Amino acid sequence: MNQPLSHPMLSIAMDAVAKGTQVLRDRYQKTVRVETKGLANFVTEADLDSEKAIVEIIREAYPDHAIISEESHSDRADAADLWIIDPLDGTSNFMHGIPHFAVSLGYYHDGKPELGIVCNPVSNDLYVSVFEQGAWHNGVRQQVDPSENLSEVMIACGFYYDRGQMMQSTLETLGDFFRCNIHGMRRFGAAALDLCNVGCGHYGVFFEYKLHPWDYAAGQLFLSEAGGRATDCNGNSLPLHCASSICATNTKLHDQAMQVITPNWRKLSGYVSG
Ligand code: IPD
Ligand code: CA
Ligand code: CA
Repeated sequence: MNQPLSHPMLSIAMDAVAKGTQVLRDRYQKTVRVETKGLANFVTEADLDSEKAIVEIIREAYPDHAIISEESHSDRADAADLWIIDPLDGTSNFMHGIPHFAVSLGYYHDGKPELGIVCNPVSNDLYVSVFEQGAWHNGVRQQVDPSENLSEVMIACGFYYDRGQMMQSTLETLGDFFRCNIHGMRRFGAAALDLCNVGCGHYGVFFEYKLHPWDYAAGQLFLSEAGGRATDCNGNSLPLHCASSICATNTKLHDQAMQVITPNWRKLSGYVSG
């Protein structure tokens, strides 16, 4: 690592991510067993084995720490020392041989993000952030796009597994963004990487109407360390104990983006709390 980062848990966190990414690398483009968690929502052996490898390292180093991990650990989100893990973000890409997926690992102390690591095992893109020490992509410090108008930026979005009202609202929002003359709209399929890409200045805005804490635990720190901002569709900070909508921007575009994203969000019955 070139970046001058220091944190007492950084080295264990890096080891854990390295083990998780090795599992994904070894299993990528080989036959994997797939189970369905819900409509278009899958879990593979790779998700489970990556999670096992990451959790083993954290548990051994910090047996008293709490862990929230997508597939099998759900300790209390208000624990003083909390690790939040997405062992494979972008499972659909992984299954279809699309080399855009990641391990995502965040460490929170007293509810505040201190460490965030996201790594794509195929491209070896590594995104590391430490609270008040910046956002670093492959050893180079990152800053968000400085644009002040939606008409100057690329936008990214995500579709939750819903194929009904939420999908419809997302599609309407895409149209509304295009009517603001944005440069383009991208949907790459791994929210942790989407957040890092807002931090690196590639997108001015990323939004999705439903994500879970493991999708954004690491990426939201990377983004804020790069000068960006992430909130839910009501403008509140992102929760660690439940799912949430997300609007992630370069900060300057936050209000403009919310004006496009929130009206379609408010039309969603049952989702108005965040
Ligand atoms: C998914 C990805 C995707 C997003 C979904 C997430 P998973 O995570 O981040 O981009 O649109 O909402 O659930 O299931 O691949 O870990
Ligand atoms: Ca995910
Ligand atoms: Ca996942």
